Amino acid sequence: MDLEKVELKVNAASLEAISPPTSTGEEEQELSRLYQDMQNNSLTPLWQIETNLLSRQPNPEAVAWLWKWQNLYEIARRSGELVPIHRGGDRRAIALSNPGLKGKPFATPTMWTAVQWLNGHEVAPAHRHTAQAIRFIIDGSGSWSTVEGDRVFLERGDLVLTPPMLWHDHGSKVDERSIWMDGLDIPLNNFLDASFFEPYPAEAQEVTQVLNGTVLKYGVGQLRPAWEKPSVNYPPMHTYKWAETERALNNLAQVAASPFDDVALEYINPQTGRSVMQSFTCWIQMLRPGIHTRAHRQVGSAVYHVFEGSGETIINGISFEWEQGDFFVVPSWAWHEFRNRSTDRRAILFSMQDTPIIAALNKYREEAFTENGGHQPVTGRFTPKQFQ
Ligand SMILES: [Fe+2]
Ligand SMILES: [Fe+2]
Repeated sequence: MDLEKVELKVNAASLEAISPPTSTGEEEQELSRLYQDMQNNSLTPLWQIETNLLSRQPNPEAVAWLWKWQNLYEIARRSGELVPIHRGGDRRAIALSNPGLKGKPFATPTMWTAVQWLNGHEVAPAHRHTAQAIRFIIDGSGSWSTVEGDRVFLERGDLVLTPPMLWHDHGSKVDERSIWMDGLDIPLNNFLDASFFEPYPAEAQEVTQVLNGTVLKYGVGQLRPAWEKPSVNYPPMHTYKWAETERALNNLAQVAASPFDDVALEYINPQTGRSVMQSFTCWIQMLRPGIHTRAHRQVGSAVYHVFEGSGETIINGISFEWEQGDFFVVPSWAWHEFRNRSTDRRAILFSMQDTPIIAALNKYREEAFTENGGHQPVTGRFTPKQFQ
């Protein structure tokens, strides 16, 4: 770019501002020169931006969607047969790609969610990264995760954490495969240009603690070793065992429930009361038989995994019917309500939600649906793609 020319053009424009052009033709020429100069100088005028930069309310690109377990399982199983674990990213993980996000492998704008398949006797090599990660165990027993030298055996319903830059690897000592949900803040981490990744020098870490060490040390949650300072950045234990989680759900069901989420619990860092990760939180919720919650909407997105049972979530008037193993997404500011039609079976949902990062930035809002007894009119049904 010729700087002298630019200067001349700017000067000409400012002269015109003092003595305005007389004819519309001149004005148009000046305007088009102005826009050309803006473009040449990597500038964009607000009044020519077609997308609404300051929308009146959230206008998410991510859409409400549902992935069927039978498809996910079958595709993961075939990947287990055909794809070696070392092919890219050290993990055989299959990402939920929200169709609203233009082919990106993300479930929502802030969260990556994948189904990961580990064959018996395999090792998913050790590495560490700044992306914050959880996994929720769907099926299989006999596999383990080692996080910073602490090895924990994984059972259905366990939540496992890998906070930023802690070494972690996964492996199996049995013939049976394991399958779990991976949840990471990869899109947010990348958007913030904050991604670091490092492979470990060996395939797997040395186990440096007693098996299940951090669960034994901190797992009760009400008590901590008296000589240690509280950990403020992330929970001191790397695993939340299902037996404890289920007990807490059953206990809460005896005394209280949310009108919007029924018997819902947030996994917390017991030493701070805060969410397990700083960029997202994890919930487990039980929809008791016959429950139909009231609708609300909130800023932030959520990914749900149906751990047990079947039911329905109505999202912006569309009914999403789900059963065990399915995953679904609720985008930001979408009305949603839950229903368990069964008269005798509970339904259990695990979810990750980006509320903590939204709240930390002072952008959180929620609103209850007040008409029609708190229930949205249902205008359609979501038809999931079926595996051919
Ligand atoms: Fe990882
Ligand atoms: Fe909600």
